[in-house]
Amino acid sequence: MSLELLILIVFILLLVCILYISVIVKKSVECLNRTYEPDEITVGEGKKLALIIYQPTRHGSIENISMAIAEELALNDYKVILNYPSKLLNYRLNEYDLICFGGGVYFSRTSPILSDYILSNPCKNKKVLVYLVGRLVDEEKEINELAVLLGGSNKVYKAKVKKDQTKEVRNLVSSIIKE
Ligand SMILES: Cc1cc2nc3c(=O)[nH]c(=O)nc-3n(C[C@H](O)[C@H](O)[C@H](O)COP(=O)(O)O)c2cc1C
Repeated sequence: MSLELLILIVFILLLVCILYISVIVKKSVECLNRTYEPDEITVGEGKKLALIIYQPTRHGSIENISMAIAEELALNDYKVILNYPSKLLNYRLNEYDLICFGGGVYFSRTSPILSDYILSNPCKNKKVLVYLVGRLVDEEKEINELAVLLGGSNKVYKAKVKKDQTKEVRNLVSSIIKE
């Protein structure tokens, strides 16, 4: 094989890699910024009320975590409403016993749609769980930035988990509601 041909092959491979990475970056950033039509789901028929608002991630990890939270709450006498953050929602947060906000982390960023929802729907004296799915579970910067939006009167719990840590999140929820 001539040197020119080898250089050409390496160049093409590099281009393919750059293209692949830029598609992943673009799609990841897009899902942080995408507004979803409201699509309410109810889980459980308990006496206590919980609201879960989560921004979908690219491959559905936050949905799995959110459903695990909802199922755990439903097993503990909760009726759980799940929906996506949107300006079209009109939930009165102060009517809920527990409020959960969830989303994914890409490039150390969380969804501005979720933070806008938190800021425009303040709640007081509530138990609030902020949960994020990400690979770097020890990096707390993003979750702290979200938690700080909730103001001082709420009891805020934080969980950053990997996509398969549904059991850990269920345990946390179980301990929060027993407190
Ligand atoms: C392009 C990209 C950037 C990421 N950046 C971060 C990050 O900064 N911090 C982190 O904890 N996880 C990061 N992750 C990991 C994702 O949050 C994690 O894979 C999550 O499960 C994504 O949700 P999904 O599986 O539904 O796509 C990143 C993943 C991708 C693909």
